[in-house]
Amino acid sequence: MKRIAVLTSGGDVPGMNAAIRSIVKKGIHEKIEVYGVNQGFAGLVDGDIEKLTTEEVDDIVSKGGTLLHSARYPEFSQEKNVKQAIEQLKKLSIEGLVVIGGDGSYRGALALAQQGYPTISIPGSIDNDVPGTEFSIGFDTAINTVLESIDKIRDTASSHLRTIIIEVMGRNSGNIALWAGVAGGVEEIIIPEKEFSMEDIASQITKRNQNNKKHNIILVAEGVMTGQEFAEELGKYIGSGIRTTNLGHIQRGGAPSARDRVLASVFGFKAVNLLKDGISGKCLGVIGSEIITNDILSIFTEDKDHSQVFLEKLNKEIT
Ligand code: F6P
Repeated sequence: MKRIAVLTSGGDVPGMNAAIRSIVKKGIHEKIEVYGVNQGFAGLVDGDIEKLTTEEVDDIVSKGGTLLHSARYPEFSQEKNVKQAIEQLKKLSIEGLVVIGGDGSYRGALALAQQGYPTISIPGSIDNDVPGTEFSIGFDTAINTVLESIDKIRDTASSHLRTIIIEVMGRNSGNIALWAGVAGGVEEIIIPEKEFSMEDIASQITKRNQNNKKHNIILVAEGVMTGQEFAEELGKYIGSGIRTTNLGHIQRGGAPSARDRVLASVFGFKAVNLLKDGISGKCLGVIGSEIITNDILSIFTEDKDHSQVFLEKLNKEIT
């Protein structure tokens, strides 16, 4: 293989740049030219593809976001777009593609592989909900960002003896809330994977207040309801005075953590090796300390994905 391309798709995550850098460096080492596709699958269909140089990626390991920009492009589910994307790649004699993103991006990679085009996918999602891996690039940085906010909010919550609701991202997954909530020692963690009773939460808050607890910090995953909705419901039991913070897109930005940079770099390196060896239709993951390769089709048909199994285990241990 003499020429490959890389794209980033879906919500950007800290660590995508580290993966791009690793792919370009490893490519150069293997005498493979690496092209960058701008704006994910939308750019691929439009043929917005340019050669990447080592100079361009030299300083991006520490930068959040993605040098290649990202996009959500549901239109890629149409076969005509998949075929056009392959034409664009072939026009430039590009023989393989690395896709970095979440499960929506994986579906795009699968569509290309099913049309016979070589692809390797790397999991990138702050939600950590990508099947076939315990951890995705970006999750570690995101939970550390949330943790920093929890610590700050605790200062003000304690000063005013307040109940503060913090809404975090995660789409339909409670991974961010559970991990950051345990690390931050919050009073309640509300996730889609576990039922809760507003009445019980209210009575716990009343008890804590009677015991002179200085704060009640409640982390609510967006997949349950918004922080504002939660505060309104809780207010019916404990009255007004509840404050709400939505951390929003702050969770997606910032310099990647060391762990995300290492994971991204290893995944990037491995992706190039697989394409070089003529292996396609695979996605990468990490289980324990091992980097694994899954068949991309099979991970969509498995009963459970590894990140959810891990979340369930953690959830069970702490309740
Ligand atoms: O998948 C990452 C994520 O940040 C989710 O946690 C969130 O639900 C969604 O993307 C937000 O998407 P957008 O930035 O398109 O509003």
